[in-house]
Amino acid sequence: MDCHRKTFLLKFLCVAFLLNYSNVGFVDAATNIGLNYGLLGDNLPPPSEVINLYKSLSVTNIRIFDTTTDVLNAFRGNRNIGVMVDVKNQDLEALSVSEEAVNTWFVTNIEPYLADVNITFIAVGNEVIPGEIGSYVLPVMKSLTNIVKSRSLPILISTTVAMTNLGQSYPPSAGDFMPQAREQLTPVLKFLSQTNTPILVNIYPYFAYAADPINIQLDYAIFNTNKVVVQDGPLGYTNMFDVIFDAFVWAMEKEGVKDLPMVVTETGWPSAGNGNLTTPDIASIYNTNFVKHVESGKGTPKRPKSGISGFLFATFNENQKPAGTEQNFGLYNPTDMKPIYKMF
Ligand SMILES: *[C@@H]1O[C@H](CO)[C@@H](O)[C@H](O)[C@H]1NC(C)=O
Ligand SMILES: *[C@@H]1O[C@H](CO)[C@@H](O)[C@H](O)[C@H]1NC(C)=O
Repeated sequence: MDCHRKTFLLKFLCVAFLLNYSNVGFVDAATNIGLNYGLLGDNLPPPSEVINLYKSLSVTNIRIFDTTTDVLNAFRGNRNIGVMVDVKNQDLEALSVSEEAVNTWFVTNIEPYLADVNITFIAVGNEVIPGEIGSYVLPVMKSLTNIVKSRSLPILISTTVAMTNLGQSYPPSAGDFMPQAREQLTPVLKFLSQTNTPILVNIYPYFAYAADPINIQLDYAIFNTNKVVVQDGPLGYTNMFDVIFDAFVWAMEKEGVKDLPMVVTETGWPSAGNGNLTTPDIASIYNTNFVKHVESGKGTPKRPKSGISGFLFATFNENQKPAGTEQNFGLYNPTDMKPIYKMF
């Protein structure tokens, strides 16, 4: 097996085989695939070991869910790894009050790392739009945008949203936002258009499939067929991921927001927790095919030229999340850092 080829996919395979032999020495180009690094487990390896795993995989983009000191400290000196951090949901209300409050947050949580951590994105809140605290997102985004601009920092400011914003998602051209999403999300999208910053979206075909496994074909949900399953006008869809992605694109267009880039901050498939819908094999097929889809550079039927960039969820199984599938989205076992399944 040639372990010196370029793709993240192949590296996964190689690492799966070679994890016992350290220093396999992958030297590879950046890809458009990142990994989420969640911390809701009591058996996770220390951050320094996790960074070594990322280095061995040549992963160049990581997303963490807050600004945890020991994790960010571990990234010091690894400037080739881009790090996306979140403003925590529970901080949004207090920060929405003034730019001064946001500046204090920035000085405390971001500034200490700027010299030697490559912070690429700050996501203001995770999946809070649409919802009770959704209206706090935009003022905090505006303050942070002013702060990074005034310091000429190359940090992008956005927010992460779930597909619950869609009232209609099928067929994709019928994509439309719910009323509360329209109220809270549309102004955010318009602001992002002005700064040409991607909206961050979490897309999980798994949940749609699990809600209706009788009527939805598994192969369509896991990118495992070349057959057109959904024909939408001139656009033919072979997989559910593209349908959901494009429904969001259509919904944005209906709000007058055209050509706004999207980054997929989360996608994945659990390897356990829901019977035969969540096996290591199915999870492996989904994640492998997602990476292939991204690496093909083909984009989606509605955006065939722009490609997709995305983060797989997640690095590790996290045992302090709700029991069941939520604990089983990891690619790696936290206790021995071995892959839970091969990415093929
Ligand atoms: C920071 O990370 C981004 C995203 O991976 C990358 O494009 C950029 O080159 C990195 N910066 C440095 C200094 O390596
Ligand atoms: C799961 O098991 C049920 C009952 O045996 C079967 O009908 C279904 O096709 C299986 N689904 C998958 C994805 O294997």
